Amino acid sequence: MSSILGNSSKKISSDNSLLSAAVGIDDMAVYIPSLYLPLTGEFSRQRDIDPEKLTRGIGVERMAVPDAHEDAATMAAMSLLELMRRCDLQPGDIGKIYLGTESAVDEAKAMGTYVIGMLERVYGSGSFQGCSTVEFKSACIGTTLALESISYWVAAGEDERIGVVIATDVARYPLHSPGEYTQGAGSVSLLVKRDPRIAALEQIYGCFTRDENDFFRPLGCATATVNGKHSNQCYLDAMQGAFASYAAQAAQKGLIAPKRGECTTDWIEHLLFHIPYPRMVEYASAAILRQDWRNSRHWKNVEAEIGVEPEPQNYADLEKYQVDLAGYARSFARSRYFQQAYNAKVKDSAALSRQVGNIYTGSIYLGLASLLELRKVQAKERLCFGAYGSGCSALVFSARAMPGISSVPSRGLFERLERRREISLQEYELLHEGEGKESLNRPSEEFVLARIDHQGYRHYEYVR
Ligand code: HMG
Repeated sequence: MSSILGNSSKKISSDNSLLSAAVGIDDMAVYIPSLYLPLTGEFSRQRDIDPEKLTRGIGVERMAVPDAHEDAATMAAMSLLELMRRCDLQPGDIGKIYLGTESAVDEAKAMGTYVIGMLERVYGSGSFQGCSTVEFKSACIGTTLALESISYWVAAGEDERIGVVIATDVARYPLHSPGEYTQGAGSVSLLVKRDPRIAALEQIYGCFTRDENDFFRPLGCATATVNGKHSNQCYLDAMQGAFASYAAQAAQKGLIAPKRGECTTDWIEHLLFHIPYPRMVEYASAAILRQDWRNSRHWKNVEAEIGVEPEPQNYADLEKYQVDLAGYARSFARSRYFQQAYNAKVKDSAALSRQVGNIYTGSIYLGLASLLELRKVQAKERLCFGAYGSGCSALVFSARAMPGISSVPSRGLFERLERRREISLQEYELLHEGEGKESLNRPSEEFVLARIDHQGYRHYEYVR
């Protein structure tokens, strides 16, 4: 059997041109609320759902729940504060804060200004006045578009300062809906600079966009409207389109140059996808690898295991062809050959998401945090990211792990998630409906939403 893992490290080690001009992710910080709801106990009983469906079929075990004093802005401030402390950054070091969110707290005022206001309670009034900030809204892909944009600003080199990209969201669906068990909340802050320690962006972006009604939140609605099964299909279509575009550009620029029998994913060690729920990452990798392997040496191993893929010219009935093709896709996803590649290149990125749920625009970077915490990425390995945002858009891009990656300290995220407080179904439902006004955990060393005044302006404080 041909090697399923590829050997991109060897293939890319001779290319040092990128390293000299490298811009990318130097470090990251993650904030997850300190409350969680287990999905297998009271929740699955009350909702009459087989726990196996949640842990295996969907892939989640716990849902992160924001406390009464938290919102997307406090979470963003918390992850930024941690990033600044981890990296010993001062406000004057940061030139731009680009913030991706679909949990806006205001229709006009940028969330980043609230975040700066909070940080100034720690670093001093006016300390961020030379830093610009803007909010990126594009469902779950907003943060990735922010990262793309800020990386070009850093690369332009007109300003010595670093850029910060923040993802922050509360994923909220109606109670009792099929989206409910995919909810989560959290924030990720990325430090973007030259000569990054973690990963250098390769600045190739494969894009796919089309107008869809898969998932949206009309003005004034607190929860998203989602056409669940359709949203899965939109995600897969967009990801396949964006990956094809990425592969074509990478080949044209000579970044990835598959020889006879090889394919693009042979040159990639880690595939990270947007994670609305961990199982989706398995569906996405099956779609991408089936597409990528079809004309490579891998395909004979696939056919040896599950037979030949149906082809339209062999069918008089188009419907029958589609049914057989869907069956073949299911067999592919269950095949040993695919599962081996999935376990090697993809699965670990969903480790934190199992304990957190969907954090929307930060989910893909929670995937990166999973790999870093598990120490799965080695210098020179290529990471390929598949970001997705409903509505819908996908962006596929890649980065190469840098030699400094092993020197970046762990964030202890798995241990921190174990220290969270479990809440009851009733406590969760009250918080979800905005009826739980008292904090369940007394705030300490954190930002809180203290009050919203008669004009709708939000007052935040730092509680020591
Ligand atoms: P559902 O009706 O809960 O699930 O919808 P299902 O019936 O399709 O089952 C899911 C899997 O569980 C299936 O596995 C079942 O067989 C299995 P598969 O057949 O595919 O291999 N299953 C079981 N397994 C073990 N034991 C059992 C059992 N029963 C069933 N007893 C859905 C799932 C995701 C649609 C729903 O939760 C939903 O609507 N979620 C919200 C939307 C969403 O997350 N969509 C994902 C793509 S869109 C996206 O990613 C963007 C987003 O992040 C937002 C943004 O961009 O801003 C959402």
